[in-house]
Amino acid sequence: MISKKIAVLPGDGIGPEVMTESLRVMNAAAALYGFSLDTVEGLIGGAAIDAEGTPLPAATVELCRKSDAVLLGSVGGPKWDNLPPMQRPELGGLLAIRKELKLFANLRPVRLYPALSAQCPVRIPAGKEVNLLTVRELSSGIYFGEPKRLEEERGIDTMVYETGTVERIAKLAFEAAARRRGKLTSVDKANVLSASMLWRGVVSRMAGDYPDVGLDHMYVDNAAMQLILNPARFDVIVTGNLFGDILSDESAALAGSLGMLPSASIGESVHLYEPSGGSAPDIAGKGIANPIAQILSGAMMLEYSFGMVDAARAIEAAVERTLNAGVFTADIAGERSSVGTAAMADSIIAALS
Ligand code: IPM
Ligand code: MG
Repeated sequence: MISKKIAVLPGDGIGPEVMTESLRVMNAAAALYGFSLDTVEGLIGGAAIDAEGTPLPAATVELCRKSDAVLLGSVGGPKWDNLPPMQRPELGGLLAIRKELKLFANLRPVRLYPALSAQCPVRIPAGKEVNLLTVRELSSGIYFGEPKRLEEERGIDTMVYETGTVERIAKLAFEAAARRRGKLTSVDKANVLSASMLWRGVVSRMAGDYPDVGLDHMYVDNAAMQLILNPARFDVIVTGNLFGDILSDESAALAGSLGMLPSASIGESVHLYEPSGGSAPDIAGKGIANPIAQILSGAMMLEYSFGMVDAARAIEAAVERTLNAGVFTADIAGERSSVGTAAMADSIIAALS
């Protein structure tokens, strides 16, 4: 039997509770599809600060490097917000692990399930659907560019993009578009920013290598507007680190709740899978968090890291069947009645086939 070694980093807030439930779903899928998951837990974020005094212990990085894939919950919370920036869960934990594992592409698919159409803040015309994928560059841009420093009276961040970095992310995005509906929208601010001018030139040049993909370019301000006016026009969006951070949260609203959205961060060897949403400290420990983002992140792991497409599709179908059957957590229930985290996972497991 195929066995995969998974580093499990539950993190903070709702991270541990949604992780527990998602692992139950993963193990049920493993039993059905004849593989097993060998999970080892590691510390990250506030949980690691409390236990070891650092948001990313060396042992965690080591564990991730030795694993076939990494499943992450979420990091951060008010308890650690007043620490110096680099010691906080977000910068010292999440951004640091992205850097250590050289994760360069963050894939954030957004789908509005029919059962949640009333939860979508935008009216979608009949016959159209929201089904898009943001491919966010994760290793460069203004998050990591130098110079970068906080002075007494000045804060400096620098947006840098180099040709090779843009080529690497654009290749992945063109390929993803070719597997989907063949439409790629590259989002930048090339009317103002030099890094974007370079970005646009590189992406344009590459279009010739992908004759089956239609490419268009959009400025980020317009893209933010089009996502609300006409989200069905998008298939794959490729963009830089900061723009991708913002647009992926915006597009998440279209799915009814951040609690629905998985993500995959693709690296040079090990990939990492985490919900797009945060640690939601306000509802942590109450057993009401939506585990679907974490569960679908697990499905992305099966597909992208292990090529187990059937098992991944089965989990996605089970989620859809569960929603169609009227089972909702509080964030997506609206006026309807809701169930807790564990009951949602139970229903998804029951719907797996
Ligand atoms: C995300 C988050 C992170 C980011 C934060 C927590 C550092 O917003 O994964 O989208 O900005 O990348
Ligand atoms: Mg974000």
